[in-house]
Amino acid sequence: MQILDGKTLSVTLQREMNEQVDKWLAQGKRAPHLAAIIVGSNPASKVYVGHKIKACERVGISSSLIEEPDDISEEALIASIEKLNQDPAIDGFIIQLPLPRHIDPQKIIMAVDPSKDVDGFHPSNMGKMALGLDTFIPATPYGIMLMLERYRITTSGKKVVVVGRSNIVGTPMSILLSRNHPFGNATVTLTHSRTQALKQHLLDADIIVAAIGRAKFITEDMVKPETIIIDVGINRIQDASRKSGFRLVGDVDFDAVSEKCSFITPVPGGVGPLTVAALLKNTLKAYEQNTSV
Ligand code: GUN
Repeated sequence: MQILDGKTLSVTLQREMNEQVDKWLAQGKRAPHLAAIIVGSNPASKVYVGHKIKACERVGISSSLIEEPDDISEEALIASIEKLNQDPAIDGFIIQLPLPRHIDPQKIIMAVDPSKDVDGFHPSNMGKMALGLDTFIPATPYGIMLMLERYRITTSGKKVVVVGRSNIVGTPMSILLSRNHPFGNATVTLTHSRTQALKQHLLDADIIVAAIGRAKFITEDMVKPETIIIDVGINRIQDASRKSGFRLVGDVDFDAVSEKCSFITPVPGGVGPLTVAALLKNTLKAYEQNTSV
């Protein structure tokens, strides 16, 4: 079994991006700028946005963090987005999800200017992605594609089972892997909460992408030998031995499944760091389009 080391790959990608930014600065150009809006005080969201801001610093991307209160109205949040849409100094921005219950996330996503939508969540960008046109690819699926590419894992003709059909991971992942391009061309099965005989599907898979959001959901008996496992889950489970009182585990029972599979992403240190690197790649893309470098 080989570990797919997202942490190390993310450092490499950030170093490459930093070299690119340094070149632009040496040419007298301004630094790229990413903004992030965070609503309320979800502790996990604060941690994720913190990782994104720190990575910006390493790459040489300027960043702004806009903190809005839990009880902000939909209108006020859209006004905050509109400010960023209009600001020529901002190349791209994200609104960290999830949002409080009283806010319709789809309305919020639709308010983002698609040319600044570095999360790739706007329907216009999702549509382009589905058609195979050049666009911002959502960061988690993009990060997974970068991982497959850098580890030279061929997907062509392979049977991939994606577990979970969320708009931000499962659905775009299934589209990207089935497209006609070098790290696509797979035969993809998108499974979800209504799927019958999930175990049978999983036992038939060459590659499993687990994006369910349930700790250790995929167990050793659901996986055939030599499968490639991509674990997108980041779940907190209680752990009295930690100062925080919890630890992070994936959607896959790592200890047992790693004995059997050929490649596996750990949690933490697998897909998570690549999501951050992919977001920054999208930010550089937005900057290039914005400044026509
Ligand atoms: N919440 C979980 N994943 C993501 C992501 O990729 N982008 C944003 N904006 N929020 C998230």
